[in-house]
Amino acid sequence: MKQAILTKPETIEFSEIEKPVIQPHEILMKVKNIGICGSDIHAYYGKHPFMSFPIRLGHEMAGEIVEVGADVKDLKVGDLVTAMPQTFCHECEPCKEGRYNICNTLDVIGCQTPGAACEYFNVDSALIKKIPESMSARTAATIEPAAVGVHAVRRGQSVVGKNVVVMGAGTIGNVTAQAAMAEGAKAVLITDFSDYRLELAKSCGIPFAANTGKVTMQEAIKEAFGDEGADIFFECVGIGATVNQAIECSKKGHDIIIVGVYGSTPEINMAWVQDREFRLIGSLMYVDKDFQDTIDYMAAGKINMEPLVSKVFPFDQYPEAFKYIEQNKDTSLKILIEM
Ligand SMILES: NC(=O)c1ccc[n+]([C@@H]2O[C@H](COP(=O)([O-])OP(=O)(O)OC[C@H]3O[C@@H](n4cnc5c(N)ncnc54)[C@H](O)[C@@H]3O)[C@@H](O)[C@H]2O)c1
Ligand SMILES: [Zn+2]
Ligand SMILES: [Zn+2]
Repeated sequence: MKQAILTKPETIEFSEIEKPVIQPHEILMKVKNIGICGSDIHAYYGKHPFMSFPIRLGHEMAGEIVEVGADVKDLKVGDLVTAMPQTFCHECEPCKEGRYNICNTLDVIGCQTPGAACEYFNVDSALIKKIPESMSARTAATIEPAAVGVHAVRRGQSVVGKNVVVMGAGTIGNVTAQAAMAEGAKAVLITDFSDYRLELAKSCGIPFAANTGKVTMQEAIKEAFGDEGADIFFECVGIGATVNQAIECSKKGHDIIIVGVYGSTPEINMAWVQDREFRLIGSLMYVDKDFQDTIDYMAAGKINMEPLVSKVFPFDQYPEAFKYIEQNKDTSLKILIEM
């Protein structure tokens, strides 16, 4: 079978290897789609802090089961499935508390272990989720990033009936905003410097969108929520400027959820965090319930991923897809590969 390996910065090499032989607890999927996400792009340029070369990417995937291990129940050949990409120890303190997304020895498929950038992929059946019949493989390959948003909105105080601000309208900000609406927020304001991404968010049903390169966050909040103000902030950019914006615009005692990944250590206005009893809360990936609920939200139309898919490349143009992302940052969002 064909696989694609990121061998060094900006170099993806195709090679032929044997089709995997599955263990009794595994399934074999014929991969249909994989997604390219921000961490893949960091890895592609050799700038991911927790990934090294060579690596077979692909942690966002959808495929059809072609073989089922002897011990696997409830899955059959022909099922369209996706996989949660976390492998964890089951034994450390976070794992025992059910927070395996922060397992002390967490490995992510396609980041630390080989991913789905190949024709056939063997996966532990415990990580597999079945896709509803109404959902296409392309859409199924976007469940993984959507689940990041669903987990994020569950990390702090309840969003039910609240005015929510999401900073950043990339894939992660978009899904966080959609997840907040799906989980019962009163209204959501999303901010970005890109009008294209803000329009995309609006087309996904986000009620308020503001370009904070053109208006201040205070103005945007006033326009969206009037005197009620904003109750919860989600930082989905990964820079200090937006954390400080949240600190400056938040009501006393409220939550600021940190979803962005920080390439460098930001300077944060900690005096206000202390004095106003803000809670800065981290969010990483998701756990099983977040992932299953994401599938259900997508099947019910409460989270709509279709508008986010900008382009689909065939597998043999996987390297070109990375170049396309580089050249079309301002007019594209999620790029998929189709096998
Ligand atoms: N917590 C997790 O589990 C998790 C999972 C995946 C990705 N992430 C991280 O989430 C962040 C967002 O991911 P993404 O794929 O959407 O990235 P992205 O780069 O596509 O989106 C970031 C957006 O922020 C906007 N932006 C930049 N500066 C801004 C500012 N000052 N104010 C408002 N918007 C601004 C950009 O225009 C862009 O649209 C990244 O840091 C990524 O690494 C976190
Ligand atoms: Zn991803
Ligand atoms: Zn663990």
